[in-house]
Amino acid sequence: MRTNSVPSVAIVTGASRGLGRAIAAGLAEAGWSLVLDARGAPALTEAAARLPARPPGRVVALPGDLIDPDHRARLVAVATELGGPDLVVNNAGALGPSPLPRLADLPLPAFRELLEVNVVGLLGLTQLALPGLRQHEGGVLNITSDAAVEAYEGWGGYGASKAAVEQLGRVLAVEEPDVRVWWADPGDLRTRMHQDAFPGEDIGDRPLPETVVPAVLKLLATRPESGRVRLRELL
Ligand SMILES: NC(=O)c1ccc[n+]([C@@H]2O[C@H](COP(=O)([O-])OP(=O)(O)OC[C@H]3O[C@@H](n4cnc5c(N)ncnc54)[C@H](OP(=O)(O)O)[C@@H]3O)[C@@H](O)[C@H]2O)c1
Repeated sequence: MRTNSVPSVAIVTGASRGLGRAIAAGLAEAGWSLVLDARGAPALTEAAARLPARPPGRVVALPGDLIDPDHRARLVAVATELGGPDLVVNNAGALGPSPLPRLADLPLPAFRELLEVNVVGLLGLTQLALPGLRQHEGGVLNITSDAAVEAYEGWGGYGASKAAVEQLGRVLAVEEPDVRVWWADPGDLRTRMHQDAFPGEDIGDRPLPETVVPAVLKLLATRPESGRVRLRELL
């Protein structure tokens, strides 16, 4: 990323709430310029407006659906206008049906939708950002889950999508030597997605998403080799 005085530019997907919003706040605090995405315009606009003061970085909130190729192109075009992108945080994600169904009962349209958002949308955005990322020797941070590597009942559809995300990262890392690629497991977090995974349960004991932001900032500052990261281990 940059060593001169021009702010680095990050695209953060799913920045209207949960982990994406917390990461955006951490980056804004650190002076990054941000291009933020989520489908719901009011929540995204509100999240962007409440970011910490961040001169000289700029913030652009672009509501839209990651499965829309035009929206992905707009995100990268704005990041390019700001002088980047230096980083893509592929954080937006879908869980699938709640309560989580066993694979025997997973509706295929819902599975297709999961793959479209979590995998195809993520790769589509990354593809468009790669020219800028190569130029700036930037990074891709894909948010993954322990469900990508463990076998939890009910988590087959979501876990398979995250396993695909991890393998995309693994291959991208060898194909793009000028770009760092990390796939990071944040651990359980108290967010809407987590509540949807455990409907009716009290998830008040799960840590808030803000708790892993220092690990994200440390990752970006130290730029370890591409690979899988458990964010809590960096804290
Ligand atoms: N929470 C956990 O315990 C946990 C654990 C491991 C990994 N993760 C991962 O962490 C990431 C963030 O999850 P979270 O828990 O913070 O979830 P969340 O609170 O549900 O937030 C998801 C964000 O993604 C956006 N989003 C969803 N679908 C989108 C789409 N098609 N296009 C654009 N934006 C979209 C949402 O906004 P809109 O709905 O308005 O679009 C929202 O801003 C996900 O990749 C998740 O798999 C979470």
